[in-house]
Amino acid sequence: MQSLNLFEAPSHRWVVFGRDPSKPESLIDTNQYLIQTPQGSMLLDPGGIELFAPMLAAVLREVPLEQITHLFSSHQDPDVVSSLGLWDEVLSNASLFAPGLWEGFLRHYGMNNIRFHPIDDRGGRLALGSVELEFIPAHYLHSSANIHVFDAASGILFSGDVGAALEPIDAPLFVENFQEHTNKMRFFHQRWMPSNAAKQQWIRRVRSLNVQMLCPQHGRIFRGAEVQQFLDWFEQLDVGLGLQHG
Ligand SMILES: [Fe+2]
Ligand SMILES: [Fe+2]
Repeated sequence: MQSLNLFEAPSHRWVVFGRDPSKPESLIDTNQYLIQTPQGSMLLDPGGIELFAPMLAAVLREVPLEQITHLFSSHQDPDVVSSLGLWDEVLSNASLFAPGLWEGFLRHYGMNNIRFHPIDDRGGRLALGSVELEFIPAHYLHSSANIHVFDAASGILFSGDVGAALEPIDAPLFVENFQEHTNKMRFFHQRWMPSNAAKQQWIRRVRSLNVQMLCPQHGRIFRGAEVQQFLDWFEQLDVGLGLQHG
């Protein structure tokens, strides 16, 4: 499992994990993220049960387990958080922040030690050390209760499945040619995202934030002007493709 610093300051740093060479080809590739502060650290969309062992090893290279105080889950999917029951066995003092609507479903992954903190449908805020994180609603993108995380200090938006691309395991971590990249994103967004209205509401909200880096759970990271390019591309994309087959 590879890891890379995305942002580093005295207050906190962001690390991305992914592109694990031992990953079976039949599993969709995922990006996991860490926010480390001197007072505590958060794992965002910690990943699937199949990738727990390489993920744990990679995390341990960055931060001791006892400093992981927070988990975040953008929604309930297995690629996002089916490792929860295993993290539950190794973390002694952690809380999971996730959409409250999914609590009864998420508990099926196993959660005896980790404390559950429901995130309201309207989003909210969380202080992680001195870092003020904002929970941004992203409902129906694609999950019916879905939350993203914005960190104004770094300008990083963790955008879950929004901005996702289907990529081979050796793909670069950053977008290099936006137009080319749209070919790897189009089907994913058209078929997994059900609602044009939800999409437009999210775009309006995100345009009001100063996003410097858009970090999805699959595929590549968008930087600087590519963030606006992505919002413009997503705005004109018709989603809910499955309805055509109804
Ligand atoms: Fe998902
Ligand atoms: Fe996903």
